[in-house]
Parts: sequence; structure tokens; C-alpha cells
Amino acid sequence: MLIRSFFDPETFTLTYVIHDPKTRDAVVIDPVLDLDTQTWRTQTRSLDKVLTFVREQALRVRYILDTHAHADHLSGMAALKRQLQAPTAIGHPITRVQQLFATAYNMTDLKTDGSQWDVLLTDGQRLQAGSLAVEAIATPGHTPACMTYKVGDAIFTGDALFMPDYGTGRCDFPAGSAADLYSSVHDKLYKLPDQTRVFVGHDYQPGGREVRWETTIGASKANNVQLKASTSRADFVAFRQTRDAGLKPPRLILQSLQVNIAAGELPAPEQNGKRYLKIPLNHLGRGD
Ligand SMILES: [Fe+2]
Repeated sequence: MLIRSFFDPETFTLTYVIHDPKTRDAVVIDPVLDLDTQTWRTQTRSLDKVLTFVREQALRVRYILDTHAHADHLSGMAALKRQLQAPTAIGHPITRVQQLFATAYNMTDLKTDGSQWDVLLTDGQRLQAGSLAVEAIATPGHTPACMTYKVGDAIFTGDALFMPDYGTGRCDFPAGSAADLYSSVHDKLYKLPDQTRVFVGHDYQPGGREVRWETTIGASKANNVQLKASTSRADFVAFRQTRDAGLKPPRLILQSLQVNIAAGELPAPEQNGKRYLKIPLNHLGRGD
């Protein structure tokens, strides 16, 4: 099994392509559709890198997976599906996330049954991606639908667990829960063997260091600055809640969620042929 990472420096996101070199079977995790916020053009710079790699390596992408409904970038899932004709999957509780945000955006036409994805995964479910076996491990907390994907000795943790010098994902989005994230990481991921390789969903390059995306369960248990094996639930929850209260919303939260709860599909064109994003006013944070 070979793992190739693609880093988007605009949103600090890692996309992964995992493949079996013998069969060329592959899965893609967390593809990014770029959005230029001056011109409001969607761009395929990040997707093109993935597609070029897939074509150069002659890979057969069997699944496109999102770890969760991202709030900081548009998912490239729908655009990539059109290119590769591969089925898509996400965690089953995405329906709850759809219900929450369809209400916030008044997206009355959005189906909130998860039918925009080909597969809705439950905890422990296995996907056979050609010769690659992918296990979904429910790791709620950052969102209720977050999934970690396990392929061989590697896990792809999305926003549940980051590099040891950064910590964990925030838990202040609707239906997020620091207590749930503690259970997901401390009581679940930290029970995996110490040598399990961990591939994170973002790297924010703390202190300006070079980008890194790979650690291990053992290193996380010993060194994660927010959640070690020795950290108590009460301490983590108190820390996370205090920290989250001081964080700004992600820059593209309002733009990205309305797309990502539709599996990365842009809003349908209106009668003039143009697509529009919706921005609810006075929805985030405090007013003046
Ligand atoms: Fe996220």
C-alpha cells in the first residue's frame, strides 16, 4: 500500500490517495475544490494534482471518501466523481449535519437523507475498494458525522486528531462535542497499536515549521499537546471548551458548508444560468 499526500496551503488541508501498487486500486480521501475569494471562481488546481497523479500511476479509484462535512474548504468530491466515475462515501450521521445546516441556510430543496452520497457508512463498516479494505471508525466530536478511515496499518483521522504539536479538532460547531471527541480519540483511536500510522486532515504548521502530516498512535499518546493517553476527560473537555470559545470561525465556513452538505455539488444554476452561494447575515458570532 502506498500513500501520497497533497497539501493545500490555502486551507492547510491534506488530501490523500492510497493505492495498492500491485492492482492499481485506489481510494481518495478529502479532495479539495479551490475557491478564489476575490473573483469567486472555483478552481481545480488542487484536484488537477490528484488527477494527474491518478492518471500517471494508472490508478483505478474505487471510492472517494470525505472524513466529514468540511467547514473550511469546498469538497472536491462531486467534481472528482465526474472525472473518475467513482462512488462516494461519508459517515451516516451526515444526515443530522444536513438537517442542521439546511435549516440555517433555508435550503428547502436539499434532501436531508444523505442520498447525495453513494454509501453512508456506520461505525465499523468495511468497504472493499478493489484489493484495498477500508474500515470506517466513527470518531464524532468535531462534527457528529466524523469518520476515521483505516486502511492496513494507517488511519486517516480528518479533523479528529492532528499532529502532536497541534492537538485535536475544534468541537464548537453545531452538534460538536468535546466529550465525544475525547471518547473518539482517547477511548477508541488510542486503543489501536502504537505503531499505527496516523495521517491527519490538516496541518496548520505551528510556529511556522515545515508541513507535516504523518505521526503514529504511540507518538500521539505520548506527546499530543491537547490530548495524551494520560489526559483526563474533564481536563480535555475544559481545555477544549475554553480554547474553542476564543477561536474565530473558519474563513470559508458559510461558503463551504452549503456545498459540502450536498456532497460537494455546487448550488443549481438559477434561471440566468448562474450559480449563487447564500450567505446568512448575523448568523455567526455576536452582533454589534
Ligand atoms: Fe473540519
